[in-house]
Amino acid sequence: MTKILVTGSLGQIGSELVPTLRKKYGNENVIATDIRPNAPTFICEEGPYEILDVLNNSRFEELIKEYEIDTVFHLAGLLSATGERFPQKAWDLNINSLLSVLEFGRKYQFKRIFWPSSIAAFGPTTPKDNTPNETILQPNTMYGVTKVTGELLLEYYWQKFGLDTRCMRLPGIISSETPCGGGTTDYAVEIFYEAIEHNHYTCFVKPETKLPMMYMPDLLKSITMLMDADVAKLEHHVFNITAMSFTAEELVQEIQKHRPNFTVEYKPDFRQTIADSWPRSIDDSSARKEWGWKHDFGLTEMTKDMLEKLINSKKIFDQN
Ligand SMILES: NC(=O)c1ccc[n+]([C@@H]2O[C@H](COP(=O)([O-])OP(=O)(O)OC[C@H]3O[C@@H](n4cnc5c(N)ncnc54)[C@H](O)[C@@H]3O)[C@@H](O)[C@H]2O)c1
Repeated sequence: MTKILVTGSLGQIGSELVPTLRKKYGNENVIATDIRPNAPTFICEEGPYEILDVLNNSRFEELIKEYEIDTVFHLAGLLSATGERFPQKAWDLNINSLLSVLEFGRKYQFKRIFWPSSIAAFGPTTPKDNTPNETILQPNTMYGVTKVTGELLLEYYWQKFGLDTRCMRLPGIISSETPCGGGTTDYAVEIFYEAIEHNHYTCFVKPETKLPMMYMPDLLKSITMLMDADVAKLEHHVFNITAMSFTAEELVQEIQKHRPNFTVEYKPDFRQTIADSWPRSIDDSSARKEWGWKHDFGLTEMTKDMLEKLINSKKIFDQN
């Protein structure tokens, strides 16, 4: 029996990962947690929900003991754009909480820990196209610094203590359920909401900005696949992963195929510098070889599905 605790459950990824895990492992076996008290009903009524500040070690340990946790998906964190505004907070939250999870993992002999790294682990000196799994990691954002440090910690605990840590360097994640939490690729999500609601979007990166991306259904599939993978077949514990790469302009043109009246203006801000330091495309052949990763959604399929889901959800009013 697996007993899972998810941190940062109310965020963009957690709010969709928790229902996926509950479907697979049973509602009672997935304990959703977040620092925020106001969990939506689909999170707090379908299974256990606990308020947890991941920097509160005694509360964290209490929950691990109470629910006999053996697997943690550690999603609580500060993202790239917010991290540049509050670098000390980004270090504190992203790294000190990860260290606690790793120490709990050692003490309570967890089966597995999942922690997401990011393409932010790369930096301006990293090869920009088809970036390999093993390459230069010299990020120039505090968020990136925490992601490289986290990757090294996961590798250390695996090598030194045999703690089964698993990690993917996530590209920008596009999803329709929960708004983004302050990252540099947020434009690729916001643009859909604005296209439907106002037929206009002011984009904070230049039209030629090209970044790796993934649609949420593919992300949920990839996390499940990685966590199910036979450890004996893993040569890595930190994986590059991707599904598609497109420029901001290509995304606009794809949306315009469905909404011809949609217009965009470009007003790059401080996030342009962050985007410019990241790769344009990623080589994820290690993930494909070692645990069979294969994506389902490219730009065309993702755009169609996002627009349909947002319009059908009626969370925003269609101005078309
Ligand atoms: N979304 C992406 O595009 C993306 C890309 C690469 C990596 N990641 C990584 O995935 C993870 C989750 O990202 P997300 O997009 O869901 O983030 P998010 O900002 O949407 O959610 C983070 C959640 O953590 C919670 N949180 C903040 N401080 C906390 C604390 N002290 N204790 C407990 N919870 C706290 C917030 O309330 C929020 O619900 C992060 O580690 C992020 O770096 C995300």
